[in-house]
This record gives sequence, C-alpha cells and structure tokens, in this order.
Amino acid sequence: MLNIETFKSEVVIESPGRINLIGEHIDYNGGFVLPAAVDKKIRLRLRKNNSSSCTIYSSNFKSSFTIVLDDLVRKEVEWQNYIIGVLFHINVLKPNTIEGFDCIIESNLPLGSGISSSAALECGIAKGVNDLFNLGLSDIEIIKLSRDAEHTFVGTKCGIMDQFAVVKGKKEHLILLNCETLDYELIKADFRDYKIVLLNTNVSHSLASSEYNVRRDECDTALTAIQKKYPNFQFLTEVPVKIMKEFKAILPEKIYNRALYVTQENKRTIKAVKSLKKNNIEKFGSYLYKSHYGLQHLYEVSCTELDFLVNLTRDLDYVIGSRMMGGGFGGCTINLVHKDKAEDLITLASASYEEKFNIQLSAIQTTISDGVKQL
Ligand code: GLA
Repeated sequence: MLNIETFKSEVVIESPGRINLIGEHIDYNGGFVLPAAVDKKIRLRLRKNNSSSCTIYSSNFKSSFTIVLDDLVRKEVEWQNYIIGVLFHINVLKPNTIEGFDCIIESNLPLGSGISSSAALECGIAKGVNDLFNLGLSDIEIIKLSRDAEHTFVGTKCGIMDQFAVVKGKKEHLILLNCETLDYELIKADFRDYKIVLLNTNVSHSLASSEYNVRRDECDTALTAIQKKYPNFQFLTEVPVKIMKEFKAILPEKIYNRALYVTQENKRTIKAVKSLKKNNIEKFGSYLYKSHYGLQHLYEVSCTELDFLVNLTRDLDYVIGSRMMGGGFGGCTINLVHKDKAEDLITLASASYEEKFNIQLSAIQTTISDGVKQL
C-alpha cells in the first residue's frame, strides 16, 4: 500500500475533465465538435520504483493494484483497465521504455457525470509516464493511444473528442475540432453576460456504454447503405440533409433517424460557432435546445432525468440554452445561464428534481482551463 502522506513525487500531473458545448456523438462521425477542458481535475503523482511492476492507488476508490509490466492484461475492475490499457498502448509505440513506477491518483472530477473522468485518467497517466521516463510522445500520440486504450481495454468505441480536449484544452477557449482531419481552431469562450452551469443528474444508467457502441453500429449501417448509391461519402457528416432525405423510405426508421440527427447536429455546430463569433449568444443558446431535441427524439440517448432538467429551463428567461452533454443516459446537462441568476437556477432545479425523482442533483460551476500538464 502506498503512503499518501510520505509519497515523494518525481512528476505531478493535472489532467482536466471536459465539457462539450455542441456537436454531440459527432466525433466518430467525422464532423465538428466544440469541447473545452475545465477546472475539475485529476491529480496524478508518480515516482520511479526501480522494479518491473507498477503500483497505482486511487484515493477515490480507496484501493490500489499492482501490475507487472510484461503482463499488461485486462482486469475485472473497470478503472484499472483505463490505466493498464494506456501502459499497453505506450508499450506498442515505444516498446520496453516504461520501467516500474508508483502512482497516486486524487480527483475532484465526478465520475460517470459526462465530464469525461475517463479521458482525464487516460491522458493523465499517459502524460505522467511520458514525463517520468522522457518518452518523447507527442500530444497527438498521447491523444490517440488514450483513445485506443478505451477501445481495447475498456470496450467503449469512443471517438477522439474527449482525449483531444483533455490534452489540447486552453484556458478561456473552446476548441472547434474537425474530427476527420484533427485540424482545430481555438475560439475565445466569451458568453457575454452568461455563464456555464452543469447540472449533474447523479444517475448513470447501465445502458450508457452498451448503447454507445450500438449507436456507432447504427451509424455504420446507415453509411454503408448510403455509400451503395454515393460511394464518395466517407462519413455521415458529409451527407447533405437533402441527400439524406432520399433514404427516408429506404432505411429502417430508427437508422434513418440516427443518420439524420448526425447531419443536422454537424450543421448546427457550424451555425452555432458562427453565432458565437458574431457575439449572438442568444442564437448560440437556441442551438443547444435544438441539439437536445435531436439527442432525445432522433438519436435517443437522453433519459427522463436529463429531459426533466432541460425542460425545466425552457420557461426561465435567464437560461438561453440547455441540453444533455456527453454520451448520454445520465450525467450532466450543460446550461447557459445569466451570470447573476446561476444560484436561482440551482435552487429551483435542485428542489424540483428532488421532488420528482427523490434524488439530489449536484450543480457544477466550472471555468474553462488548460489541458493536461505537469506542475
Ligand atoms: C463520449 C465519448 C466521446 C463522444 C461523446 C458524445 O464522451 O467518449 O468520444 O462520442 O460521448 O459526443
């Protein structure tokens, strides 16, 4: 067992969670997303231990495990797989460069809340090991190997948005990321009189990871059918809505709805960014509501608790945009709220939510901050 009090760190890493303003379930469809890193973080402290094994302690789970470096295999415990997966994929890129180390992980990032504690953990351990052993991994290598770890060791076929935001995040900026080319633009996060408030439903339905992979398959099914007639489209986000509508009578209704959502959401993201750049925050906020509508009715990744919180804001003139955020089936809503009224929203939502579901929500007020870094 590692002793937190006496642990002498050689490298200390802070790895943030992320929010996403708009462009949900778009990353694995090759379109545009608008995430940012936030000030809720995981802290990882690492030191070499001159052995061939690694001992990792998580203060959140109050448990530790030890893994031998030449036996990096999946475990039964999910959080351990994020770490083992990253070590495995570093070893693929840079064989036999990692030596034994100890690591203590502390976090103020709520788990399962859609703020991507998973990407924060993956990228945090990747950066920590990189810096401890001077491996010379590039940002893009850290981003991609962290995503690969989630695919192969955890089993969620996630896109690249979360890892990208966690690594490339910049204080006070949103990242407009083209998920096909990985080109990106930093956009000043200026919401005028409005601020971001996250309302965490504190539910995480078990469908979250299984349905995520189902959605990916459904998108592939739609794309394969479209490619029979239009072989040049490589991603659903490239298909214009007009062409998509040709497939309404051909595709099963559910598959058509998924594909329609994807093209609409990608367009919406581009339009929302235009509004933001023109300083039209009200218009920007209205796209968040439209995005939620699509996620609820066409992509079907929302849930009663999220819908309740979004609906509650519709009559409030001090909230200009609200939607579910992240993979769905629980986690947070993201709200654009007048800066003087954030507490009013939190009080109202907390009381109504508890009355309806007998669950306490937690409000998270975040600021946009830098990506993963060594302190
Ligand atoms: C999860 C995944 C991301 C992305 C979002 C939905 O957070 O990890 O890659 O697909 O869901 O936008």
